Amino acid sequence: MITPGMQAGSQAEKILVAGGYGNVGRIIATSLGEVFPGRVIAAGRNLERAQNFAAKTHGKVLARHLDLSSDVGNALDDVKLAIVCLDQADTRFVEACLQRSIHYTDISADAAFMAQVMALAPGFEHYGATAVLSVGLSPGITNLLVKQASQSLESVDHANIYVILGLGEVHGDASIRWMIRKANQVYEVNWHDTHRQMKSFDSARQTWLASESRNRTFFAFDLPEQHTLPNTLGIPTGNWLAFDSVPMTHLIAFSNRIGLMKLFQRGIRQTLFIHGMQRFRIGSDRFLAEVHVVGQQNGQPLSHWASVGGFGEGRATGLAAAELAKRLYRVAFPPGAYHIEQLVEPESFFEALSAYDLVFKAGSLTDDRTRQIAHP
Ligand SMILES: NC(=O)c1ccc[n+]([C@@H]2O[C@H](COP(=O)([O-])OP(=O)(O)OC[C@H]3O[C@@H](n4cnc5c(N)ncnc54)[C@H](OP(=O)(O)O)[C@@H]3O)[C@@H](O)[C@H]2O)c1
Repeated sequence: MITPGMQAGSQAEKILVAGGYGNVGRIIATSLGEVFPGRVIAAGRNLERAQNFAAKTHGKVLARHLDLSSDVGNALDDVKLAIVCLDQADTRFVEACLQRSIHYTDISADAAFMAQVMALAPGFEHYGATAVLSVGLSPGITNLLVKQASQSLESVDHANIYVILGLGEVHGDASIRWMIRKANQVYEVNWHDTHRQMKSFDSARQTWLASESRNRTFFAFDLPEQHTLPNTLGIPTGNWLAFDSVPMTHLIAFSNRIGLMKLFQRGIRQTLFIHGMQRFRIGSDRFLAEVHVVGQQNGQPLSHWASVGGFGEGRATGLAAAELAKRLYRVAFPPGAYHIEQLVEPESFFEALSAYDLVFKAGSLTDDRTRQIAHP
C-alpha cells in the first residue's frame, strides 16, 4: 500500500522518458543523461530500439520496455520523475504516476488532454507530487514569452502567438499525426468572455514580425495556448501558424479548406502521408515563435513583443522540456498540477536555453500592424 508522500521504491531516483528514443524524446533523454548520467531511462514499446539508442549514450541513458496503453507493472518502482513524449488516449499512466508520488511532465500539445491532467490536480496534491504541462516550444516557451511580454504593461488586452515551422525538418510520426488531427479540428476560443468558434486554417491574418522586420501571413490553428493562457494569466490569446515556405503555407491551407487533409486522418493513406513528409522535405528546419501582447502603459496603447528563433523545432521542444525536467527533479515545486507559466520565471529559463543557440529577442511596438484577411 502506497501512502501520500511515499514513493514505491525508497531509492526512487530515476527519470523515465516514455517515448525516449523518439524524435523529441531522444533530445530530452540525451540532454538529461549529460546532467544525471545513469539515472535517465529511455522507454518505449520496442526494447531493442531503446537499447540501441541507450548504447549510443555510453551508459548515460538506460533502456526499458514500457507500453503506456497497458498495465505499467513495476516499471515505475525506481522512478522519481516521468516525462511523456507521445500522445496519450487517456490519463491511466498519469494516474499511475501520481498514486506513486512521481512527478510528471509531458510535451502534449492537445488542450483537451491537458484539461484532463489538470483535473487530477487534487490527486497530485494528495500524493505530494507535481505535474507540469505546456512544456516544449508551442506550447511551452511561447507561454513564457507571453508572460514576459505582459509583465511590464500596466494593463493587458490580449495576446497573439505567431509560430513558423520548418517543413525541411524531419518530424516524428507522432508529431505528423498530431498535425493532421489538429488541421481538421473545429475549436472554441474564449475571447473577453465571448466564445468564438474557429477551424484550423479557416481564417488568416497578415502581421508584422518585429524580430525579423517583415510581414508574414499566418493561419488560425488549434494550438493549446489560446485555451490555457486565458485561465492561467487571464489573457485572451490567439494562435497563428505558418510554415517557412510561403507557397507551401498557402497550399496546405488551401488543401485543408477543400477537405484534402481529411483523406489522411487514418489508415494506409496516413502512413503514406507520414512517409512522404519524412522523405520529401521542402524548405529549411528554421523555426520562429513571436508573441505580441497588446495593452496599455501610461494611458497609451502599447504592444510588447518577444520571440525565439532557431533551427529544429523538435530539438527546441526537447531542450525546453529537459530544462523544465531538471528543475522539477531538483526543486521542490508545490504539489499539484500546473502550466509552465505558473511555476517558472521566463528570464532564467531563457538564459539557460540561450546556451543552445536559441535566440531570444524582445521589444515594443506603438501601433498594431496586423491586418485580418477575409478570404485568403
Ligand atoms: N509542445 C511542443 O511544442 C511539441 C513540439 C513537437 C512535438 N510535440 C509532441 O511530441 C510528441 C512526440 O513527437 P515525436 O515527433 O517525438 O514522435 P515520435 O518520433 O513518433 O516519438 C514517439 C515515441 O513514443 C513511443 N511510443 C508510442 N506509443 C507508445 C506507447 N503506447 N507506450 C510507450 N511508448 C510509445 C514511440 O516508440 P514505439 O512506437 O517503439 O513504442 C516513439 O519512441 C507528439 O505527441 C507531439 O505532438 C510537442
